[in-house]
Amino acid sequence: MDLQDKVLIITGASDGLGKGLALRLAKDKARVVLLARNQDKLKAVKEEIIKFSGKAEYFVCDVGKPEQVQSVVKSIKSAYGKIDVLINNAGIWTTGPLEAHPIDKIKDLFATNTLGTIFMTREVLPMMKAVKSGQILNVMSIAGVEEVDAYGIVYVATKHALQGFTDTLKQELQGTGIKVMGFYPGGMATNILAASGVKMEVDMKQMMRVEDIAEIIAFVLKQPADVVIDHFEVRKFT
Ligand SMILES: NC(=O)c1ccc[n+]([C@@H]2O[C@H](COP(=O)([O-])OP(=O)(O)OC[C@H]3O[C@@H](n4cnc5c(N)ncnc54)[C@H](OP(=O)(O)O)[C@@H]3O)[C@@H](O)[C@H]2O)c1
Repeated sequence: MDLQDKVLIITGASDGLGKGLALRLAKDKARVVLLARNQDKLKAVKEEIIKFSGKAEYFVCDVGKPEQVQSVVKSIKSAYGKIDVLINNAGIWTTGPLEAHPIDKIKDLFATNTLGTIFMTREVLPMMKAVKSGQILNVMSIAGVEEVDAYGIVYVATKHALQGFTDTLKQELQGTGIKVMGFYPGGMATNILAASGVKMEVDMKQMMRVEDIAEIIAFVLKQPADVVIDHFEVRKFT
């Protein structure tokens, strides 16, 4: 599959893996549509892409807010007329014992990590169904397949819920021409830990490079139409 001129939505594209994916996939001449909450950071990513003659546009969107998701997908529909690929990547993290999780933090984790993916997918699906093709790639985590308390008890729950959603969606969409893929990475060198506010000593050399993961995802998205890599786990090899 050629990504040239494909319309590709990436949530959480202002930083970390989402930004790395946007830069990498724009190099394949995809028309990348960047979603996140921070307009300045989104604008900077767009400008970086335009510098190498890539095609990018951004929309400010909190994926945990269904009314924002509906309005942004509507705008994307009128601007582009199609959506070929949806990468549900936006995510937040925290850890610690359950009682130390403030109620609002628990709600935010589920709103962004789990509901955000469900809301985005729900809005995008009719356009993909209408043309009987599309690719939906959900970024989970090894915390979606392993129960390790250090990963964060609520974070683990959000990603396990997403794993159930992803695998069931795959069944629901059988025969529609839409591919559903679940991606389960280990630790990546991004700002997700810093963004959480949790104080932790982390050796970034033990984390995978965003550029390497973006390369793997580019490969996955470019598989022939009758091939799908529908569940893939990627870990640091030492
Ligand atoms: N880094 C790791 O070690 C690791 C490991 C396994 C899985 N993952 C998963 O990989 C994905 C990307 O994480 P990352 O490491 O790249 O994190 P990151 O560097 O912190 O980036 C997270 C991105 O998500 C956006 N975001 C957060 N809340 C949002 C919301 N409510 N609506 C829209 N966008 C939102 C942030 O932008 P704004 O603040 O501008 O909204 C940012 O662009 C996440 O799903 C994460 O769970 C990460």
